[in-house]
Amino acid sequence: VKYLCDNNDNNNGMMTRVPRKYILPVSDRPNSRGEDRANLNLPVIDFAELQGPNRSQVIKSLAKACEEYGFFQLVNHGISTDIIQNMIDAGRRFFELPYDERAKYLSSDIFSPVRFGTSFNQSKDKVFCWRDFLKLSCTPISNAHSVWPSSPVDFRKVAVNYSSETKFLYLMLMEAILESLGLLEEAMEKENGNKSLKEFEDGSQLMVVNCYPSCPEPDLTLGMPAHSDYGLLTLLLQDEVKGLQIQHQGRWLTVEPIPNSFVVNVGDHLEIFSNGKYKSVLHRVLVNSSSSRISIASLHSLPFNRMIQPSPKLIDEANPRRYKDTDFATFLDYLSSRDSKNKNFLESRK
Ligand code: SIN
Ligand code: FE2
Repeated sequence: VKYLCDNNDNNNGMMTRVPRKYILPVSDRPNSRGEDRANLNLPVIDFAELQGPNRSQVIKSLAKACEEYGFFQLVNHGISTDIIQNMIDAGRRFFELPYDERAKYLSSDIFSPVRFGTSFNQSKDKVFCWRDFLKLSCTPISNAHSVWPSSPVDFRKVAVNYSSETKFLYLMLMEAILESLGLLEEAMEKENGNKSLKEFEDGSQLMVVNCYPSCPEPDLTLGMPAHSDYGLLTLLLQDEVKGLQIQHQGRWLTVEPIPNSFVVNVGDHLEIFSNGKYKSVLHRVLVNSSSSRISIASLHSLPFNRMIQPSPKLIDEANPRRYKDTDFATFLDYLSSRDSKNKNFLESRK
């Protein structure tokens, strides 16, 4: 879509109309049912507080956020402003490269460790989304990054650094989440006498750099259609431009960005694992006519071969099992078959 915007013959190169391929049916457009665009201040979790004497209080707030919103903002997370801003900047500069340079990474193989593309599911979407993406598989980091873009020159270094910092942060958050579910003890595996969250450490990580160019008619299209994320947790970094909306109590609400913070959300696998206690919530992205927007999502899941099932400790007479077992292969099958109007993954696992 950025290529289209940059190579427009009309009106001295300014695109004034959204091409037909991007125009959603009236019922799917962002403002179609009179939905308002109210802002939402998500619950804020202070990561530094989580490490201090108030940990149990923060764990309670974390549980509440995961139950009621499926989302929270994470502040004081300890990742330096430099690392954050360098990542946003490197992502932006990648999308500013000449198209031929970006196109080296075009691929329709969803297993490719690096993949540049457009829309949501380009082979299935009947209507395209106003979004380009660069997906970087981070597992295992030791060799995955050798195929990541070598241009801009600093891109690989910045992205490797950023991905390992977010992985560490994810593990600390996952520990807190397991604690909030009363599952930390049993999740800890003993290795040479040291307890660790090995299963989570060995999990997969996918980074998605999203670019949403400014759009001449933002009410006719979406940057990303309503979807839920598949994994355990997603850590989302965004620039100062808003666009992310989440569904809350039947309404679409726009998340107000907090500079240098992360928006963290519960994914499908965590909803299943928690037997429905924590919610994987639908979200989507609006575009706007004045600014382009960059976001970087870091999606964390269990290892590829691991079964995903409700924790037996969370199933009893009062809380019967709510989801069938699943694994990554089943999930990937679903991914390659869906178009963005299909029901979400969780529905198929009930
Ligand atoms: C996503 O849902 O993966 C991206 C959301 C965003 O760009 O804000
Ligand atoms: Fe998402």
